[in-house]
Amino acid sequence: MEPRFFFVPATTNDVDRLAVLEIDLFHTDRCSKKSLRYLIRHAHVVIARQQDTLEIVGYAILLGRKNSRKMRIYSFGIVPAARNRGLAGKMIKALEEIVTISHCHMLTLEVSDCNNAAVNLYKKHGFEQYGFRLGYYEDGGHAILMRKRITEDLQGQKP
Ligand SMILES: CC(C)(COP(=O)(O)OP(=O)(O)OC[C@H]1O[C@@H](n2cnc3c(N)ncnc32)[C@H](O)[C@@H]1OP(=O)(O)O)[C@@H](O)C(=O)NCCC(=O)NCCS
Repeated sequence: MEPRFFFVPATTNDVDRLAVLEIDLFHTDRCSKKSLRYLIRHAHVVIARQQDTLEIVGYAILLGRKNSRKMRIYSFGIVPAARNRGLAGKMIKALEEIVTISHCHMLTLEVSDCNNAAVNLYKKHGFEQYGFRLGYYEDGGHAILMRKRITEDLQGQKP
């Protein structure tokens, strides 16, 4: 049977594993343990755990700013063994719920112009390109800027 996953907020107990994932999944612009610890307290760090093993198989960091209705995906990754099963898509849905609950209406992100898998993923889930930054990453790589307007569905709780 396919493994099941669930999404929960990260705690500071997860910092060591998340720091390893940052190294495994990204070759540049990684978050340090210190940053992860700070972000867990001050931003939204969502982890996906495999139900039977409780292993962390994915995570995302979502940033908001005071007096802004935009939120930004700062980091996002799924471990290779859990890919191609729609888990990233479910993580995006979980992030969109946080955006809605936070009374925000726009989700933005930057993605490397070489990262076809992620660009495809975001397009599939309704993100569109609105900009391009030359030399955005520490290794000189370029970034595609993407965004998605988050609308509350008609069943939503907000007035
Ligand atoms: C990008 C990433 C998050 C996708 O995770 P995933 O759980 O495999 O993705 P899902 O199964 O939910 O999404 C599938 C969609 O993403 C796109 N996609 C995923 N992997 C792909 C690949 N290798 N090549 C092309 N498109 C791909 C497709 O649009 C796909 O839809 P489809 O299955 O209908 O073709 C994962 O590959 C990853 O963590 N990569 C390393 C870290 C990273 O690049 N993070 C993004 C930083 S901005």
